[in-house]
Amino acid sequence: MKFSKRVEGIKPSATVAVGNKASELRQQGVDIIDLSVGEPDFKTPKNIVNVAKISLENGDHGYTSSKGIIELRESISKYFNEKCELEYGVNNIIVTPGAKQALFEAIMTIIGEGDETIIFTPAWVSYEPMISMAGGDIKRISLEPYGFQIGPAIERLKEEISPRTKLVILNSPSNPTGAVYSEEELEGLRDLLVDNDVMAISDEIYKEITYTSEYTSVGAMEGMKERTVTVNGFSKAYAMTGWRLGYMGGPRELINQAAKIHSHTATCATNMVQRAGIEALENGEGAVAEMVESFKHRRDLILQLLSKNGIDIQPPEGAFYVMIPVEGDGVEWCEKSIDKAHVAMVPGEAFGTPGYARISYANSIENIEEGIRRLCENELI
Ligand SMILES: Cc1ncc(COP(=O)(O)O)c(C=O)c1O
Repeated sequence: MKFSKRVEGIKPSATVAVGNKASELRQQGVDIIDLSVGEPDFKTPKNIVNVAKISLENGDHGYTSSKGIIELRESISKYFNEKCELEYGVNNIIVTPGAKQALFEAIMTIIGEGDETIIFTPAWVSYEPMISMAGGDIKRISLEPYGFQIGPAIERLKEEISPRTKLVILNSPSNPTGAVYSEEELEGLRDLLVDNDVMAISDEIYKEITYTSEYTSVGAMEGMKERTVTVNGFSKAYAMTGWRLGYMGGPRELINQAAKIHSHTATCATNMVQRAGIEALENGEGAVAEMVESFKHRRDLILQLLSKNGIDIQPPEGAFYVMIPVEGDGVEWCEKSIDKAHVAMVPGEAFGTPGYARISYANSIENIEEGIRRLCENELI
């Protein structure tokens, strides 16, 4: 069979591959500690589940308006205004089945054949395949020499921006490093994007999971609103990964273009899931705070355990990941770790940064302790 060049060029997701290997071994009876997963280990808060149940009972079974039900877009608009200092009205918003779909639609709307997108590595695994599917070219700027922060990399960005550069993708807090970019750091970037007429997609999916009170939405910075698409979703903050609910906010003109792709590919996000999304935004704050508190506790624990084993890293200020440097090749190291220590992690290579492994601490205290103990016992750290 012959398939499109587009699909043949795409590598399967490395994070999914690790997860598959972990479940295969588990099925064979191996006691695996899975520190590779990119999802909260909590259940969706009850009040959110109840709204979906009632909605299902009430017969909310049909399509909704393609951009999303108006009450949900109103709640999202309020969130953008109050939490991000971003004035997006309901017509600046599209509700999507997951933030991933929003990112894809935004990239497909902005990027065409030969347009260049700059990403900062280590970068989340799906940006590159999405850009490739849109026919665009990718330029990577490694943040490794800059302690995974963006501020010190601005000079590099200045060198790399070309007349073909149309888009920069930002992700703060970052998956996989957990880094949060401060306003001060982002100012240099903002100036470059404005001066060179470059657009930005700001992936803020981990925004609610931060351990610092400072957070800057790039789109809220002077000169950025008209050139930024802000993407967020419910998966991480509300432990709703399987519900598939996300959204984007952006300039109306762009949103109207993206809405065409949305209506022809997704139609709309699931009806009762959207209703649950309203409950999450309106009454979910307490549950989010509890989950964040728990993640912080585990972050501190894992940093302490790593430090005891000679690995000192700057505390990541968001998300639920730490990147650790490993000996030699990250892929081989992670294979050894799963085969010998039965601990699953994702190699830095999956994010474009060889020689590292990403540990997810969205796991129980017992599993985190046992995972690190096994790595130590098998002389991996
Ligand atoms: C950085 C980043 N962006 C976007 C997503 C997609 O999230 P969603 O479940 O809303 O599609 C993920 C999920 O892993 C992520 O880590």
